[in-house]
Amino acid sequence: MDFVENQLLKNLEIKERTGFRAADDLVAPDMKLGLGTGSTAIHVVRRVGERLAAGELRGIRVFATSFQTELACEELGIPHYSLNSPELAGGLDLTIDGADEVDPKGRVVKGGGGALLIEKLAAYNSARYAIVADEGKLVSDLALRFALPVEIIPEARRTATRALEKLGAAVTLREALRKAGPVITEHGNLLLDIRFQTPVEPEDMEERINLIPGVVGNGFFTGRRAPWDRPLIYIGRTGGTVELRN
Ligand code: 5RP
Repeated sequence: MDFVENQLLKNLEIKERTGFRAADDLVAPDMKLGLGTGSTAIHVVRRVGERLAAGELRGIRVFATSFQTELACEELGIPHYSLNSPELAGGLDLTIDGADEVDPKGRVVKGGGGALLIEKLAAYNSARYAIVADEGKLVSDLALRFALPVEIIPEARRTATRALEKLGAAVTLREALRKAGPVITEHGNLLLDIRFQTPVEPEDMEERINLIPGVVGNGFFTGRRAPWDRPLIYIGRTGGTVELRN
């Protein structure tokens, strides 16, 4: 087995261990549960499916944050509902999701998988919020290395780009793979990936970006105006442990 393949397998184990630990620690019967998107959050979904099949999670009602998560729920027999349904009535007890970057204050950047809009809807309407991430996601400042996604309506491509550049960001339109042209999100929008040259204050920047006309959401999840203050963070370490920060 070559180095790259070995590394991928190791990462897979870390993601699985981290996702399973959060699902075991936090998910309980009768919960209204938001389930996140991505290659780490999918292990939370898998574990919820296993525990449900074992009869441990009666009465659970899930909100899936993307097509990916919805398909996984379907396959695993996890009952999932719209946030507008009487079953969820616009509120969740807990959401568990992945992240692209996590800073020392527990603020995160999300949206690498393009599901930021619904992920934020879940996060900011949950009583509790938990992040599952491997240690490679830990950074001292957000949005310098990994690009912060900003979802915009297509008509705002030029104007929003200009406004983001004025805020000091380098802006790239996210290109699709195996489709010509840009990524079109699950809501028919475009994604601008932006990077700052120097550290920014995430709480302020989250709100300033949202004020740009045509912006529908951005990948800073700072928790300002959310029911929780800081998320619980499960960090998968390469040594095989999972560290819990809260
Ligand atoms: C999707 C997300 C993901 O949670 C984030 O990109 C992390 O994904 P992964 O666990 O695959 O690294 O925000 O929109």
